[in-house]
Amino acid sequence: MENDIGEVLISETEIKNKVSALAQKLTLDYKNTNLTIIGVLNGSLVFLSDLIRQIHFPVKIDTIKANTYVGISTSPKADTEIIHNININVKGEHVLIVDDILDTGKTLSEIIRTLSGYSPLSIKVCVLLNKRARREREIEPDYCCFEIEDKFVVGYGLDFDNRYRNLPYVAVLRESIMIDSKTL
Ligand code: IMP
Ligand code: MG
Repeated sequence: MENDIGEVLISETEIKNKVSALAQKLTLDYKNTNLTIIGVLNGSLVFLSDLIRQIHFPVKIDTIKANTYVGISTSPKADTEIIHNININVKGEHVLIVDDILDTGKTLSEIIRTLSGYSPLSIKVCVLLNKRARREREIEPDYCCFEIEDKFVVGYGLDFDNRYRNLPYVAVLRESIMIDSKTL
């Protein structure tokens, strides 16, 4: 797997330090409140599990999953749809959505729209990575570990064709890997 990596952009140590600092900040900001953390599947899995284990008060955890269609949409109204919804009642709860990356913003905008309908006290967005250059929706993260430039990255939960989520760092793949998969 390591042979497929072109360049490591964010090391394991850098991630560890940022995630610890973020968990401390969240503990300060949300302590003594009712907090529900909602992880966006599948990309948030690694980040979510490291983050929540460093938050030192009882939080509720749930997950949500959305599909964003590239190109032709199956629905004329939206190009993003929720395909797995939360099961926890978040009415009167503070909600923190955790995702791997804020890219175009389509996924998180739709998730916020859906969760707003359940009358939470507040909704905030927490991402590992922010790729501002490609934004198509008016949305900014409330909490973010790293700003990245417009490069396709994998690792620490982020995938290419569902692979490489298990790399412990964030990296760019070798160009030949991306090209090979297109010609398969
Ligand atoms: P959106 O474009 O903000 O809706 O992001 C949708 C999803 O695309 C994210 O949750 C990621 O799973 C995925 N994504 C966006 N950029 C990257 C990337 O550089 N690497 C891997 N996945 C990405
Ligand atoms: Mg993904």
